[in-house]
Amino acid sequence: MTGTSPLHRRDGTTAAVTRDVVDYVVERMAMSPPPLDAPRTPAELAAATGTMITPDGLGHERAFALFRDVLAPACISSDHPRYLSFVPTAPSKAATLFDLVVSASSIYGDWWVEGAGAIYAENVTLRWLADLAGFPDGAGGVFVSGGTSGNLAALTTARETWRRTHGRGQRLAVACASSAHSSIRLSAMVIDVETVVVPGDARGRLTGDALRATCAAAAADGITVFAVVATGGATNTGVVDDLAGAADVAAELGAWLHVDAAYGGAAMASSVGRPLFAGIERANSFVVDPHKWLFSPFDCAAVLYREPRLAGAALTQHAEYLETLDATGEWNPSDFAIHMTRRVRGLPLWFSVAAHGTRAYDEAVTRGLELARAAARAIDAAPHLELLMEPELSVVLFRRLGWAADEYQRWSDAALADGTAFVVPTVYDGETVFRFCFVNPTTTEADIEAILAAMA
Ligand SMILES: Cc1ncc(COP(=O)(O)O)c(C=O)c1O
Repeated sequence: MTGTSPLHRRDGTTAAVTRDVVDYVVERMAMSPPPLDAPRTPAELAAATGTMITPDGLGHERAFALFRDVLAPACISSDHPRYLSFVPTAPSKAATLFDLVVSASSIYGDWWVEGAGAIYAENVTLRWLADLAGFPDGAGGVFVSGGTSGNLAALTTARETWRRTHGRGQRLAVACASSAHSSIRLSAMVIDVETVVVPGDARGRLTGDALRATCAAAAADGITVFAVVATGGATNTGVVDDLAGAADVAAELGAWLHVDAAYGGAAMASSVGRPLFAGIERANSFVVDPHKWLFSPFDCAAVLYREPRLAGAALTQHAEYLETLDATGEWNPSDFAIHMTRRVRGLPLWFSVAAHGTRAYDEAVTRGLELARAAARAIDAAPHLELLMEPELSVVLFRRLGWAADEYQRWSDAALADGTAFVVPTVYDGETVFRFCFVNPTTTEADIEAILAAMA
């Protein structure tokens, strides 16, 4: 029997929407490259769209046209091969298409009883990530919306674990280098602990010796470091902390070691990049974002725990209406982060890795490392540019000789406006400089040459 809701009725409109959506997706995915596009102001968008939410609706054709012709072009395509700002994205075709399947399947990803098949596939994929890091059998975790959310879940687990054995009342702190991502300081603020900053080495890396000295100084001031955060690929520089040194000191302190590999952890899938991560196998938890460099669409981050039961003890929600779930002892992903209802956002990654195989991932991630080295050599050869440090992962920092901060920004704005590239300046050691971040295997050496030439 057909229901009465116009939202759910299956009729000619459903077929037309299906056609529009499929046509759009096929066309967008065939674009090579997609349009770079650029933002517009709220006033410009209001003028271009008119009123969009009305009692009678605009009709699907008009609403879809607004997205296609006005709203989408006001969003920068982060999968454009010349989008080299922040951390770009480059979802595989398989992962992108499978995201549509996830939406159509209405799978509730919180509890095994409802999402068993999908959660099983997510867990197999998490196991692949755990194996890349060398985590033991029994490790596990969950796909969350982003590295920020994963870092918060891991640090909350660390603090709760500490409290269970040491009680309350101490001045607790997280230790990390100043190059740690801003989400670490935010997480510390949310869980109401302090942050002690470890001076980095010449490349800004956290090292075991500096960590040991900083924690000793903090202890002398009455501050207890309960968690160490090492970064597996600093966002601004791509530099990987001394993970083995951090693991030594964390063990000495009895502290939790969390590795924030949200951006760089993908390099563990590359046979070239893996050696940089020596020591991660001794961490208590780590985060890696497949929506950054493992070719998943937004939003997909993985948080993995050596002992997931500690996360479960810290983060499981208890309520009368959930008691039947708690009683079963099954693997419920909602227990391992700060969330309840969740999309099975790990499935696009599962599908893509299952379909293509891990060798294809090795090659695609290694390409990002190669592009960074190619850019470094091209910068060395350009008289108007100067490389700031040899790239470790896929970030390249360089100076445009003779330019002040406003000239960097003016160039960046113009390059976006004329469709050359999306490259924004960053600040390194107090100086405004340029930064490339490569994750997109479709970027070419010719793209790099063209961008660098445009800076002349
Ligand atoms: C090292 C690191 N940690 C955490 C994050 C935050 O990740 P998300 O934006 O997915 O929350 C980023 C983002 O670039 C990052 O590079």
